[in-house]
This record gives sequence, C-alpha cells and structure tokens, in this order.
Amino acid sequence: MAKVVTIERHIFEQQQLYPHATGAFTGLLYDIALAAKLIARETTRAGLVDILGAAENENIYGERQQKLDVFAHDIIFRMNDHTGRLCAMASEEQDELIPIPEHFPVGKYVLLYDPLDGSSNIDVNVSVGTIFSIHRKVSAAERGALEDLLQPASKLVAAGYVIYGSSTMMVYSTGQGVHGFTLDPSVGEFLLSHENIRIPPKPKYYSVNQGYEKYWTAGVRAYVKWLQGMYGAGHEPLALRYTGSMVADFHRNLLQGGVFIYPGDMKKAKEPFGKMRLMFEAQAMAFLANQAGGYASDGIGSILDIQPVLLHQRIPLFVGNRDLVEKAENFIREHDQSWIKAYLPFRRGEFSPV
Ligand code: AHG
Ligand code: MN
Ligand code: MN
Repeated sequence: MAKVVTIERHIFEQQQLYPHATGAFTGLLYDIALAAKLIARETTRAGLVDILGAAENENIYGERQQKLDVFAHDIIFRMNDHTGRLCAMASEEQDELIPIPEHFPVGKYVLLYDPLDGSSNIDVNVSVGTIFSIHRKVSAAERGALEDLLQPASKLVAAGYVIYGSSTMMVYSTGQGVHGFTLDPSVGEFLLSHENIRIPPKPKYYSVNQGYEKYWTAGVRAYVKWLQGMYGAGHEPLALRYTGSMVADFHRNLLQGGVFIYPGDMKKAKEPFGKMRLMFEAQAMAFLANQAGGYASDGIGSILDIQPVLLHQRIPLFVGNRDLVEKAENFIREHDQSWIKAYLPFRRGEFSPV
C-alpha cells in the first residue's frame, strides 16, 4: 500500500527541518485545515439548506456579501483567535486589522485571508476557494500592528489556498515547494495527493475576463491576441478558461500550465490598478507560483517585491508560467506607457488620502 500522508503529518515533518521550530506554526496550518473542513461542509450543503442569498451587509468594496462569506470569515477567525499563535489577523471581509481578543494570549505570526474567493459562484454551484497568507510579526507591538500585516510577499513564511471543487483540496507552501492535499470526506482528513507541484513548462490555458476587453489597455489587448496565437508570427493558441473564482483558475493553471490575468485598466482613470487585492489574493498566489517555478507580476515587475501600504490595496495581476508572464510585461512596456505613468504612483504606495 502506498504511504498515506495526512496534512498534519506533512506539516509536522516539514517543521522537523527547522531545528528551532516550536510547533506553533505546525498548529497554525493545522487549524486552517480544520477551518477549511468546516467551510467545505457548508459549501457542499449550500444548495440544500437555506443559507443562500445575500447577507444584509455590503463589504467595503460595495459588493454584496454572500452569507457563506460571513460564515467562512467567522470560522477562520474563531479557529485562530484563542490559540496563542497569532498576534493579529486581517480579512478581505473586514476593513481594519482584526485584533486577538484581550483575554486570549498572542503569538508571533499574523494571518491574512480571503475567506471565500469567487463567492458569487456559490449560487450556481461552481468552485470557490479560501486564500491565506502568514507573515512573521516584525513590530514591537505586543498585540500586532499594521506593520506586521503590510509586509511584501517575499517575506511570507507560508501561504496557500483551499479549493472547494469537485473535491476539496488544500494547497500550501512554507517555502519548500508547493504541496496539495485532497480531503477524503469519509475519514475527514486531507491526504497528500500532489507532492511538490511544478507548473508544466508547456502551458495549456489562459484565464481572463474577456468580456472586459473594452477597458483593456493596448498592451493587454495585444498580449491576449498573442496568447491566442494571432499576434505576429503565430503559435498554437492557448485555450481560454475563466470561472470567476481566481482560486479555481489559478489551480487549473498551476496543474496544467497557463496564465491568470486580471489587468489594470483605464476604465476609471483614477484607478488604473484593476480588481485583485494585493494582501488577500495576489501575495499568496505570487508566493505559490514562485515556489512552483512560475512568476507573478503586476505588469511591471514581481509582485513579491511590492511594499504594501494599504490593507485593501488593489493591484493588476499576471500569474502563471514565467515566460508567459514576462511576455505580458514586454507588451505592456512596449504599448502602455501612459497606463504605466498613471499606475506607477500607486505601485510606489502613493495613494492619495481618501
Ligand atoms: P471575491 O469573491 O473574494 O470578491 O473575489 C472574486 C475575484 C476573483 O476570485 C475572480 O477571479 C474575480 O473576482 C472575478 O472578477 P470579474 O467578475 O470581474 O471577472
Ligand atoms: Mn477573492
Ligand atoms: Mn472573498
């Protein structure tokens, strides 16, 4: 019989590689896996119980929150608020730093998460996901500060996602490759199913909301034509796959090769940075892509090096096979100088006060 490796065993064995590890980190990843199982239980029953429909609140992006967004946000918070491993958290569903309640002890890590990614897909039974990132505390503040959350992705100690799809999978990296685990619902355990994932060198797919082509810059338009094999000396076209859940689109491209694109656009001249959130979506994917031999860029340079300034900062995102992402940078450099000029101040963190 093949070796059966649970996620707990895998995390523990990886931690053994660090002689000074206290186990706090192992516990933290395990708690996220447990939260993921609870969320998976709800997403798989979403069509059965009366939990569908929009909650009354709108989140700070003005989008309607689905009830499962709120549920997933709460579960992850509650699985991690009392363990003494974290000193603060931040979630896509909450405006500010989320403190650890005063009556609980604190630790040396911070957790950032998008509790449910692609949540508009719940109503139509298409895959959704959870994205998480872990930074080590750097500030002197005992109970954490914004400075602990706002670190570049190059400083991440771990990141990953859970995909609630035809099966539930958790994919994570602690900086030693990317590993995937599939939930066996009959025993309630995540079992190692995809060890050391590497993006295949020959890509198959590109993922972009082609419906918004109207708003794209000339460079992005030319780049996508190139992906389709229709720009210059053509090559075989890549197939298009886009679900509206970045986790699902990223996961497919990670396993089969390809590029996920959410470009900055000129739809609103004052917001040339697109839709994706740096802290809750782009950083984790950039870290994972890098660990799998790929690359993530905002169209100008590596996402890993961008110093964040706002918790809910948005950023253009091109992530997948390195050569495909570098090609995007080339097209943008060649065609999009006016967009670059508009976007550069934001990349440098010069957001004007709202
Ligand atoms: P969320 O559900 O967390 O708000 O994220 C949705 C994001 C991302 O997952 C997806 O790729 C993208 O929004 C889809 O946006 P469009 O509908 O604009 O293509
Ligand atoms: Mn999201
Ligand atoms: Mn979300």
